[in-house]
Amino acid sequence: MSRKERIEVLIPEADVERRIREIAAQVSRDYPDGVHLICILKGGVFFMVELAKRLSVPASLDFMSVSSYGGGTESSGIVRIIKDLDESITGRNVLIVEDIIDSGRTLHYLIDVLKKREPRQIRLCTLLDKPSRRVKEVEVDYTCFEIPDRFVVGYGLDYDQRYRSLPFIGVVKFEDEQEETSL
Ligand code: IMP
Ligand code: MG
Repeated sequence: MSRKERIEVLIPEADVERRIREIAAQVSRDYPDGVHLICILKGGVFFMVELAKRLSVPASLDFMSVSSYGGGTESSGIVRIIKDLDESITGRNVLIVEDIIDSGRTLHYLIDVLKKREPRQIRLCTLLDKPSRRVKEVEVDYTCFEIPDRFVVGYGLDYDQRYRSLPFIGVVKFEDEQEETSL
């Protein structure tokens, strides 16, 4: 039997945009000579585009796709590179742009892999962070929002590939679930 779902707004579109503008100003101040953005597909796309549009310094873009084995709502800890970067990052100022840091397993692994390619500097920027879920330590340099341990969708984030294109951050609610959403 399938349960009925609905999406409840956790962070409205206007709040997300205001915060991205603030982070873009901060990144622009920190990288006066420009920055090389690495988007983690697919979830990071919406955030990266909105961030890049608001930077006042030159930005180059590249994309990487990784997968944690398995679907559902938990990452397995086994990370596989599905699509590698097109360009070398050696000697460059790299900023990884991710949708969400949850257990930290994906980024812990990825930062290790990318550091071996000897970028000049590597930092991490995330739209969302769920610090209470951390299993692997990850240093996050820019965070738009810290959120509680809720499964969220929208702004690039999916639930089994659905809801990525929502322009706000929402929580999937099932018909038989209690109300308890707050930041
Ligand atoms: P981590 O390796 O556990 O930090 O998981 C990172 C990845 O898991 C993210 O890039 C997302 O693709 C996915 N993920 C974690 N939490 C959520 C969520 O609340 N909604 C949607 N995807 C999530
Ligand atoms: Mg992701």
